[in-house]
Amino acid sequence: MLNWDNPITPRTAPALAPVTPPAAAQQVTPTQREQAIVAHSTEEHGGQSGLEGIALGAGRVDVSEKRIINATADVNQIMPMKYTWAWEKYLAACNNHWMPTEVSMQADIAMWKSRDGLTPDERSMVLRNLGFFATAESLVANNIVLAIYRNITNPECRQYLLRQAFEEAIHTHTFQYIVDSLGLSEGEVFNMYREVPSITAKDAWALKYTKGLMDGQFDTSTLDGAQNFLRDLVAFYVVFEGMWFYTGFAQILSLGRRNKLTGIAEQYQYIMRDESIHLNFGIDVINTIRLENPELWTTAFQNEVLTMLKEACELEVAYARDTMPNGLLGLNVEMCTEYMHFITNRRCNQLGLPELYLGAGNPFPWMSEVIDLKKEKNFFETRVTEYQTGGALSWD
Ligand SMILES: [Fe+2]
Ligand SMILES: [Fe+2]
Repeated sequence: MLNWDNPITPRTAPALAPVTPPAAAQQVTPTQREQAIVAHSTEEHGGQSGLEGIALGAGRVDVSEKRIINATADVNQIMPMKYTWAWEKYLAACNNHWMPTEVSMQADIAMWKSRDGLTPDERSMVLRNLGFFATAESLVANNIVLAIYRNITNPECRQYLLRQAFEEAIHTHTFQYIVDSLGLSEGEVFNMYREVPSITAKDAWALKYTKGLMDGQFDTSTLDGAQNFLRDLVAFYVVFEGMWFYTGFAQILSLGRRNKLTGIAEQYQYIMRDESIHLNFGIDVINTIRLENPELWTTAFQNEVLTMLKEACELEVAYARDTMPNGLLGLNVEMCTEYMHFITNRRCNQLGLPELYLGAGNPFPWMSEVIDLKKEKNFFETRVTEYQTGGALSWD
């Protein structure tokens, strides 16, 4: 059972023994190495990407050699497992599988088309909300696939990343399904991140961290490289998935509580459940990298992370102002500001940093009520009999 308030405590990584090549690898002479099926360029028996080739005669993986970044252990051998927290999240994510098309949009379509179903302010908020999420999911997916995956040198974590990447695809599918169902303007929703300044500002802020990792020369073997990688993890896991999605969740779930756009609200609940695991995975990865590489987590770097969280919080407040200038559904900019301060403090705690907004409270305690897992359970129990994908397969 998932716990939405799962406090993340950094797992203590076993003390790492100095890495020495296993006996078999030590015996491989340069000549033998040249004759290996494909020689490695940098590692005796591992490799950063997993595509370097196969060194014949390399020793078996010693779990103590596994590391999140800069591992020497082969990235293709998930067992023996070191980071069981990553595997557990992979299993939890698989247990939470859902598809947006399993949620009926009939009531939402009727309400969207009805003249008095939603106020003009509510419509405007919904459109900007969808506009942010529609491309945010793609930016997060791109970052996983193009920036994070290749620099994570641990197969348990990569297994989770593969699952997470698929979930981001499902989330993108959700916005395609919503736009299609309600007959919204595709260009208006999907190009909003380049047309609405508060959305552009958020995305541009995060993208600069991905960009640094896209340089073909990038790697995490230097202090600068490893710190840049941590910055990217903070920008995407802690900020994008752990802070910026929450105003949007509160807005749509607030509609759902009032029986408005209940199909979209239900889909957002599933997305929120997925994102909660994404966030917790990212926090575990960051904290484990910190423990394994304490030289990265300098006071100056910690202050930099705090500055990033503060900037992100301010960008989110600007977005809240932009999406609901007059307040609506019992929400207003002041409450969203307080909520974002509360969320930011929680992220600081999870990273072992001091809180930025002392005394901030949670103005939306109902958010935890909305995330009612019993409802999810019923949904999935129902789905078992209705789910047709398996039945559609034909072996002939
Ligand atoms: Fe997502
Ligand atoms: Fe995510």
